Amino acid sequence: MTAILGISAFYHDSAAALVVDGRIVAAAQEERFTRKKQDEAFPKQAVDYCLREARLSIADLDHVGFYEKPLTKFDRLLETYLAYAPRGFRSFRKMLSQWIGPKLHLPRELDQGLGGEYRGRYVFLDHHESHAASAFFPSPFDEAAILTLDGVGEWSTSCYGVGRGNRIELSHELRFPHSLGLLYSAFTYYAGFKVNSGEYKVMGLAPYGEPRFKDAILRHVMDLKDDGSFRLDMSYFNYCHGLTMTGPQFHDLFGGPPREPESKLTQREMDLAASVQAVTEEVMLRAARHLHRETGLNNLVLAGGVALNCVGNGRVLREGPFENIWIQPAAGDAGGALGTAMFIWHQLLRNERRPAGCDAMQGSFLGPAWDDDGAAAALDAEGARYTTYADDESLCEAVSSLLAEEKVVAWFQGRMEFGPRALGARSILGDARSPKMQTVMNLKIKFRESFRPFAPLVLREYVDRYFEMRPYEDSPYMLLVAPVCEEHRLTPPAEADTAFGIDKLRHARSTIPAVTHVDYSARVQTVDDERNPLLHQLLTAFHERTGCPVLVNTSFNVRGEPIVCTPEDAYRCFLATDMDVLVVGRNVLLKGDQKRVDAAMRHRHLSQFQLD
Ligand SMILES: [Fe+2]
Repeated sequence: MTAILGISAFYHDSAAALVVDGRIVAAAQEERFTRKKQDEAFPKQAVDYCLREARLSIADLDHVGFYEKPLTKFDRLLETYLAYAPRGFRSFRKMLSQWIGPKLHLPRELDQGLGGEYRGRYVFLDHHESHAASAFFPSPFDEAAILTLDGVGEWSTSCYGVGRGNRIELSHELRFPHSLGLLYSAFTYYAGFKVNSGEYKVMGLAPYGEPRFKDAILRHVMDLKDDGSFRLDMSYFNYCHGLTMTGPQFHDLFGGPPREPESKLTQREMDLAASVQAVTEEVMLRAARHLHRETGLNNLVLAGGVALNCVGNGRVLREGPFENIWIQPAAGDAGGALGTAMFIWHQLLRNERRPAGCDAMQGSFLGPAWDDDGAAAALDAEGARYTTYADDESLCEAVSSLLAEEKVVAWFQGRMEFGPRALGARSILGDARSPKMQTVMNLKIKFRESFRPFAPLVLREYVDRYFEMRPYEDSPYMLLVAPVCEEHRLTPPAEADTAFGIDKLRHARSTIPAVTHVDYSARVQTVDDERNPLLHQLLTAFHERTGCPVLVNTSFNVRGEPIVCTPEDAYRCFLATDMDVLVVGRNVLLKGDQKRVDAAMRHRHLSQFQLD
């Protein structure tokens, strides 16, 4: 037996992944256990969990790998400082104080994290090599072109190459400071959202705007080549030497200072979002076309934070030259832990790779699960009241009936998802046909701005009836955006045209308004019997009852909270919000049956989490 642990840590979103004899046994992000969003600490609890799942101890590990090369990264930070010196001393000092600690003495830090019980050496991969490995090795393809795009690792901000059999080879790279991820983050910062987590809000805001700054970006800020490579004019940015992302020249070009976080959104932010989104799609499309020309391959695999841009992914799939695309569901840095472990198994240890079935991610359900007894004991300890159903069929009947009554149902089942999206193991579900669902879920449950629509879950066998996708087309990880089919679209009333910004979302645009964005797009997740049989059964029961094979799916958490991990997290989150029903395994909890929660208790739960 060969057990390989991959770790990503000390930047943001730490994670651990365990691969035993080539099989992904477990993978999880540290934030889920510590309840600190994007926790960057050594992923102690995630490592412990992975080992528990495999019934192994640290001493059983044959190899441990880390997702980047700390010294090369330090070298980049140092060189960047020297290039701009003496400017940027403040940010350099701040950075240095972080590096003097864990980052420069990584083997020692890893030894400590593993309690001194691991006796082997550590393997350090290039940051983009681990992204690339996470994209190719678990993919269903024998060979594929590989594209990675993110903010920055050591020096690379984007790489491309080819994966064949059990090897990947990256042949080209784009280097810091020229970075699509950082460009997107700069606009995220400028639009008043948090860097490294607010990017998906910018993507959600884009359909409200006009890309009227696209030309300005391409003319002044970015020199974009045909092959998708580019140079940024660094006089617009601050991230090489400052503590912010954008500088005065950027603010002059785009019409004023950055938006204050949490202040009112204006048309300008919407137009900025539309513009940077349009540029991002353009870069992705050009890179994909170039890569196709260079490699002549039919398959493309993607990873890196930018590969979470599902609007861009959808365009690459529909308009790009590749026949098939597979995207690593944990495309951000957490997925680097998995890529590292798989790289060691296939590329360093030269073990054969035989892709079979849909892919090797097991639906990305790679986290902890609770059996019936464990879940019931946890609920009992919390004083919960619930009804236990005898089998999956009666459970799905009961829950589909509650959903059809427009109840909001928290659905806690099986192993937790690895990666940023809830895919039906730690999800909140609702009726996509309901005109009020969008508002109810946003304001009463997620406590957040309501300009983002929710993502639809759809039975894969019906995906082409509701969305402009091919019959049975797969999008199991919610990483593709597709338009809602014409026949399901509704013309909103005339006043919708004059409505401003997010008020547009109040007018139904389709027969499934809760998941339809103002541009008729939807972030589709297909549900199949192989990856998630229970959810497939629930959706089928809902379809039989209502004639609609679509449900709303959003992550099981409140704003700023990591997605729930344990039944206890689930119960507390359920009580602190206006969700109607909680389902944990076959146990169904109705809100009205539970102990009363006063406002102070709610406030205590919600105030633990920093707004994202
Ligand atoms: Fe990355």
